[in-house]
Amino acid sequence: MIASPVSALDEFRAHVADAVGAHPIVRANSYTAWFARGDVSDDALRRFTVQFSVFSHLFLEAQMRKCINAPDVASYRASKEILLNELGVSFTREGSVEGGTFRFRAGHFEWLAEFASALGLTWHEIGKRAHGLPATLAFCDALVEWYGSDDESTAAGASFAIEHWAAAGFWKELIAGLRAIKAARHPDLPLGFWTWHDALEEQHAAHTDDELAQAFAKPGFSSERFLRAGTAMLDAVAGFWEGLAQSR
Ligand SMILES: [Fe+2]
Repeated sequence: MIASPVSALDEFRAHVADAVGAHPIVRANSYTAWFARGDVSDDALRRFTVQFSVFSHLFLEAQMRKCINAPDVASYRASKEILLNELGVSFTREGSVEGGTFRFRAGHFEWLAEFASALGLTWHEIGKRAHGLPATLAFCDALVEWYGSDDESTAAGASFAIEHWAAAGFWKELIAGLRAIKAARHPDLPLGFWTWHDALEEQHAAHTDDELAQAFAKPGFSSERFLRAGTAMLDAVAGFWEGLAQSR
C-alpha cells in the first residue's frame, strides 16, 4: 500500500517530535534553570557572557555560509534578512530589512559588547574564537557544518532544530536571571540584547511547523538527512550548555 502524502507528512512529524521535540536539551537545560534563579556570581556571569559572545559572533560565519549555499533566491533572501539584521539593519514595519536603515549600534554583537562592558569585559576579551571553550567551538563549528550546509535537507533540519530550541524558553530563563542580577547589583546592565531576541523567537515559534511542511514538500527531500542534522545540532547545543555548567 502506498501511503498518502498527508500520512507520510504526519509520520515525518512524529519522527521530528521524537528527535527534536523530545531531545534532552529541548526538554530541560540545567544551566539555564540554575541561571534563572539569579544566584550567579559576577565571575560566573562573565564566563557565561564570554562564551555566549563567541557563539553569537561566530554565528555570523554560519549565517553567511547559509546565504552562500541557499538553494533558491527566496531562501537566499530569508537568510540575508537574518544576516543583515544581525549586522545592524533594522526591520521595517513590513518585517524586512528591505528599505531598513543600517546603524552600527543596531548590530547585535554591539549590544552584547555593551552588556559585556557593563560587567567589566573589554572588546578584546569577547567574541573571538580564541576565547571559546572546546564545547563552545564545537557548537560554532556544528552551526557552520549543519546549519550552513549546502545540502538542502541537512540545512533545513539544522535550522528547524535551532529554531525549536530557541523558542523553547532559554531566552526567558536567561532574562529572569539577568533581571534579578540587575536589581540586586548591576542597575546599569543593558538587557536589550536578551529581551530583543526573546521577542523575536516568539514570532518564529509560530512558523516552525510551516517550515517543516515546506521542507518536506521539496523535491529530493531526505527525512534521514533532516533528522540527522537536527539531532547533531541539538547535541552540539547541549554540549555548549554542558561546557558552561562545568565551568561554573
Ligand atoms: Fe541576534
